Amino acid sequence: MDPLAQLKERISGARSLVVLTGAGISADSGVPTFRGTDGLWRSFRAEDLATPEAFARDPRLVWEWYDWRRGLISTKRPNAAHVALADLERRGPSFHLITQNVDGLHRNAGSQWLTEIHGNIWMVRCTACGSVEPNHDVPIALLPICRHCRGLLRPHIVWFGEALAAADIQQSLKAVQSCDVLLVVGTSGVVYPAAGFASLAKEQGAFVAEINIEPTGNSHIVDVAVQGRARDVVPLLL
Ligand code: OAD
Repeated sequence: MDPLAQLKERISGARSLVVLTGAGISADSGVPTFRGTDGLWRSFRAEDLATPEAFARDPRLVWEWYDWRRGLISTKRPNAAHVALADLERRGPSFHLITQNVDGLHRNAGSQWLTEIHGNIWMVRCTACGSVEPNHDVPIALLPICRHCRGLLRPHIVWFGEALAAADIQQSLKAVQSCDVLLVVGTSGVVYPAAGFASLAKEQGAFVAEINIEPTGNSHIVDVAVQGRARDVVPLLL
């Protein structure tokens, strides 16, 4: 049986489906990936822009970079793959979407049972009181300040060297360890803990599939690897 047909059959028979996505799914909406040919980490140094140390050193530089990314993402729309995953959730058995993407496109597409394990670029968090709020407009010239305590706000993003929120990792591990099918879409599989989800699901006996334009760090352990663009392949699963 061809890999796609096999995957469709597994999904239709699954009691519990978990999908893990990465930057590749939003690449089809025009959002740059991190490690691809036009990937952000090819032009920018993560240690200058996406670490707590970088923010402590130069919060304005970090905010300028996130503001630039917000401007870019604000012009992008969910693509057929985001929409298909939201559809799959509505049709589904038990469904859980875990994304490493911070662009908010899954929610815009209608996904609800969603864990954004690396945060969301449209949320800010106070470095003093910890409150988290939606925010679409950062006054870069002044630096954004918390309306509750006047503390400095930061992007609500998990930076390198930081731990994931405890609730997010617990929810994700529970879903991955108890699913029948794990589908991994558009991630290079190099950033942990998400990079370990495929082998974890496999160890628990799940059927694990990957959709990507090229082989990844997960390809050798998955049951089926479908090579292609997310926006072309994911809608075929419906
Ligand atoms: P990467 O940029 O590392 O990987 C993107 C993956 O998407 C690659 O495997 C590509 O082959 C694949 N890809 C590209 N275009 C695709 C398409 N149209 N359809 C399907 N696949 C496609 O992005 P992530 O794996 O998401 O963290 O990176 C993980 C984390 O590293 C990110 O969340 C980010 C980054 O540092 C933070 O910012 C905290």
